[in-house]
Amino acid sequence: MSAATLVFAKNVRTSRTQTRDGRNPAFLPPAGVTHSAAMKRIQRIGLFTGGGDAPGLNAVIRGVVKSALHTHGIEVYGFTDAFRGLVLGQGHWLTWNDVSDILTLGGTILGTTNRDNPFDFVDDHRHPEKRRNATRDVLTHYRRLKLDALIAVGGDGTLQCCHKLAALGLRIVGVPKTIDNDVRGTDLTFGFNTAVTTATEAVDKIHTTAFSHHRVMLIEVMGRTAGWLALQTGIAGGGDVILLPEIPYRLDAICAVINQRARRGKHFTIIVVSEGARPHGGTVVVRDRIAGSPEPIRLGGVSTVLAKQIEQATGIETRSTILGYLQRGGGPTPYDRFLATQFATHAVELVAQRKFDRMVALRGNKIADVPLTVPGRGPRLVPHNSPAIQMARRIGTGFGDE
Ligand code: F6P
Repeated sequence: MSAATLVFAKNVRTSRTQTRDGRNPAFLPPAGVTHSAAMKRIQRIGLFTGGGDAPGLNAVIRGVVKSALHTHGIEVYGFTDAFRGLVLGQGHWLTWNDVSDILTLGGTILGTTNRDNPFDFVDDHRHPEKRRNATRDVLTHYRRLKLDALIAVGGDGTLQCCHKLAALGLRIVGVPKTIDNDVRGTDLTFGFNTAVTTATEAVDKIHTTAFSHHRVMLIEVMGRTAGWLALQTGIAGGGDVILLPEIPYRLDAICAVINQRARRGKHFTIIVVSEGARPHGGTVVVRDRIAGSPEPIRLGGVSTVLAKQIEQATGIETRSTILGYLQRGGGPTPYDRFLATQFATHAVELVAQRKFDRMVALRGNKIADVPLTVPGRGPRLVPHNSPAIQMARRIGTGFGDE
């Protein structure tokens, strides 16, 4: 053990007033755990979760807090409710106890929102017309808490805002999250694997009703403008047709698959449709618009529209199910827990090494990092020549285009 190495066990005190540097003993690692004094320059960081929730957020919070405390002796302040907490200065210091037993929990113990933006902030959502640039407040709280850096867990909207905040002097590392898997710069976001699992289980269940009632069944999944969730769910759930935002569909091409299946004696059809799917030459179905949100348009309902059209065109009973928030709920799969922990610990390493304005990423099968500018280059979409699409076509899966 080098002279520069601190042994935390010797420093453990029983109350906040007893610590040598005024820090709360609840943050100290267990007896015997050491960290390099050289890393100690970063002492406090902020952490928040932003955007729609996704399974694995708590696993990231746990990974960040545990590795920050255990490996580097860094204290972590958790801001509540995403950018709202940063603007209003709301949150608390996270202790070992706070992050114990949360690995398997869905949602986020810090809370989140996908409608707040510090550059266009609405204090009271009953008055969305009253907006302001609240970045000065964010800087004030960052300085008041004596933070050395921030770790932001979010999708492309949150991460883009973070890059703009970095330009104002905040030191930020991003962690990509979303069930949509559409963050540019990473091959995968945590939350996606769990959402695919949940959606596939739903397709499996709907299959039995489709078969028994000789119906066409549409299952609508989330994903915004990217079809990753529909594509993997469709393939894993044995969908006969998969409709993606990236491939505009034709009603006659969908009906051709249904009729061909009927001729082969299959009197039911499963169609997995992404909420962002749209007809050739047509537009998406918009469910809602949220003023001030980094992503104001909310999609949803295409399966209901399409079900009526299919029933009219084929004469076959057709039903639709919108899976909605089921896909974001529940505990993370083991894969997502693992990925979230990898992302979390890498984010803390970047902070400790003072590598800011970066986003952690999965590249191939390696954990890496990319500039925080990358997620701002637009959503990562499914390429038309994606190996998964080609594979599905080879087994006769339709994409509504031919
Ligand atoms: O980005 C995640 C996501 O779940 C999308 O798939 C979906 O379109 C959107 O969020 C829904 O947002 P909200 O929670 O505002 O309805």
